[in-house]
Amino acid sequence: MKAVILAGGFGTRLRPLSCTRPKLLFPIGNKPLLDWKLERLAKNGIKEVILAVNYMADAFIQRYGDSAYGMKLFYSKEEKPLRTGGPIKNAEEIIGREEIFLVLNGDILTNLDYSKLVKEHREKDATATIALHQVEDPSRYGVAELTEKNRIVQFVEKPTREKAPSNLINAGVYVLEPKIFDYIPSGQPVSIEREVFPKLADKGKLYGYPFEGLWTDIGKLEDYLKANKLLLDIEIKKSQLGKGVRLESGVKIKDPTVVGEKVVIGEKSEIGPHVVVGERVILGREVHAQNSVIFSGTVISDFTTVKGAVIGEDVTIGRKVKIGEGCMIGDHAVIRDNVTLTRDVTVCPSKEVAESVLTPKCLM
Ligand code: GTP
Repeated sequence: MKAVILAGGFGTRLRPLSCTRPKLLFPIGNKPLLDWKLERLAKNGIKEVILAVNYMADAFIQRYGDSAYGMKLFYSKEEKPLRTGGPIKNAEEIIGREEIFLVLNGDILTNLDYSKLVKEHREKDATATIALHQVEDPSRYGVAELTEKNRIVQFVEKPTREKAPSNLINAGVYVLEPKIFDYIPSGQPVSIEREVFPKLADKGKLYGYPFEGLWTDIGKLEDYLKANKLLLDIEIKKSQLGKGVRLESGVKIKDPTVVGEKVVIGEKSEIGPHVVVGERVILGREVHAQNSVIFSGTVISDFTTVKGAVIGEDVTIGRKVKIGEGCMIGDHAVIRDNVTLTRDVTVCPSKEVAESVLTPKCLM
């Protein structure tokens, strides 16, 4: 069976970090999100994967080439963004019409058992079966209204909590019959959720598969941090130190935290809980970091604090800097000594910041 991964989005909500890498190559626990996905597909017996690419397509081709985790990789390139349905039609020739196939939104981290989803699909007279995940607050998502036999009657987009027909949301993983190609016009942007699924629901051919376990998307910064947190809590649990890590005296690593290879952490620093430190990062003395992701090659000097933030690659951060909740620092940026960035400050790649910023702002 083949799987299609939608990998072409711009990831605008994760700018400026998505200016220099596609969303699917953001690291989760120091491994790109796409690697987690490919590994899981391979474990579920998938042999061929089609990456539907557009924005920064070359970054994927360079990294993975034509095979990964023992599976063959194909690239279906779009001339213009075709959203979530158009790329499926665009890849029709590579997918073929012989058998059912899986479609995965690329920006989701989940430990869903794909073979169970496929089994469920085969047992029903469905053209599409959608994995559904239970969330506490469904008001940000497309919420499924289901019959007792898990047939989806309709999706209610972003309902208030009171009006939500269930707590089950579209988890962005589908099994589709080749018949689906007849529902998608070619060469134009199509939203599968808004333009195709309602038609299938009307015909009684749309089914849901509720599942429990790890699930989150990485659409926004808080989701991206949550994805790392969930991975640490559920899959990794205890802290992990990569090869060649050097910890000076008095360093505290608080569980769960992941530290990449060849990282140096200075005296009395406290790292964690829920911190991911990329390879070759250098942290000075008495650095405090919590609930944050620090990409590889970054240097953070003495007495600096990072809380609830994402720091890009090869960033240089001075002494006594404070980086607060919701801040995103682009690759190669430089933050000078004594600077405070309070909440939700984003810094563009290679930007130098010498003065504190006390209100949410994007520094270009
Ligand atoms: P935002 O710009 O922040 O909304 O992110 P996005 O562009 O990734 O959009 P969204 O989060 O809605 O995308 C859901 C999934 O579909 C992601 O895996 C995207 O990579 C993918 N996707 C979105 N638009 C396109 C597109 O035009 N072509 C392809 N091939 N994939 C897309």
